[in-house]
Amino acid sequence: MQEFQVYPTYEHLSRAAADVVVSTLQGKPNAVICLPSGSTPVGMFRELILRHEQGLADFSQCTFVGLDEWIGMGPEDEGSGRQLLDRDFLHPIGFRPEQILFFDARAENLQAECERLNGAIEQLGGLDLIILGIGMNGHLGLNEPGTSFDTYAHVSELDPITIEVGQKYFQGPTPLTGGVTLGLRHMMEARRLVLMASGEAKAPVIARALKGEVTEAFPASLVQEHPDAWVLVDADAASAFL
Ligand code: GLP
Repeated sequence: MQEFQVYPTYEHLSRAAADVVVSTLQGKPNAVICLPSGSTPVGMFRELILRHEQGLADFSQCTFVGLDEWIGMGPEDEGSGRQLLDRDFLHPIGFRPEQILFFDARAENLQAECERLNGAIEQLGGLDLIILGIGMNGHLGLNEPGTSFDTYAHVSELDPITIEVGQKYFQGPTPLTGGVTLGLRHMMEARRLVLMASGEAKAPVIARALKGEVTEAFPASLVQEHPDAWVLVDADAASAFL
């Protein structure tokens, strides 16, 4: 691991994460950047949209890769990973459809869909940057506890905690039956990894990810092994660590 940075507020954290994206693009305008959906990156997206509007961030040559999706859901489904990413980032920056590589979680053959993504990422030369949030059970993407560090994209069986916490993205009770996700091996092979966390609820999982044993039982512990991982958190999320 390279960096553990604690910022006073969510806004400071969001700006710091946006800085990493912008500096990656300055070094490599056609970078391949994997983005998560969910609550944590919303402030970073807001900051990136602002910089785009001000002419300070150029996304015109890069490729975005979506991290994960709930099985059976697509862009029209309220609360789906793709809908959140479209709404919070891709639509505001006016992305071109060919710039995004995203799971079709409604595909009949999900295994083939995972292979399509694996092949496309390889063709692009791998991920230059992957931005991640952390689940309340230590998952990264939808790599649930017990997932091998050696996996690429795969179909994931959801942990009960993920099904419960995942309800926050939807307006009413929603059956979550599984996921498709980039694998932990994609994360290890990404040239730079940024793990973001905000809020007191994430404090215990951040502490375990950084100080606990490196184990497949707690996927986020993988950041300790990554040669260029930056863990960026706000003060609340750091409160069990310091
Ligand atoms: C979700 C998603 C992950 C996300 C993580 C944290 O279940 N599948 O991709 O990064 O858990 O989400 P949030 O940022 O909403 O807390």
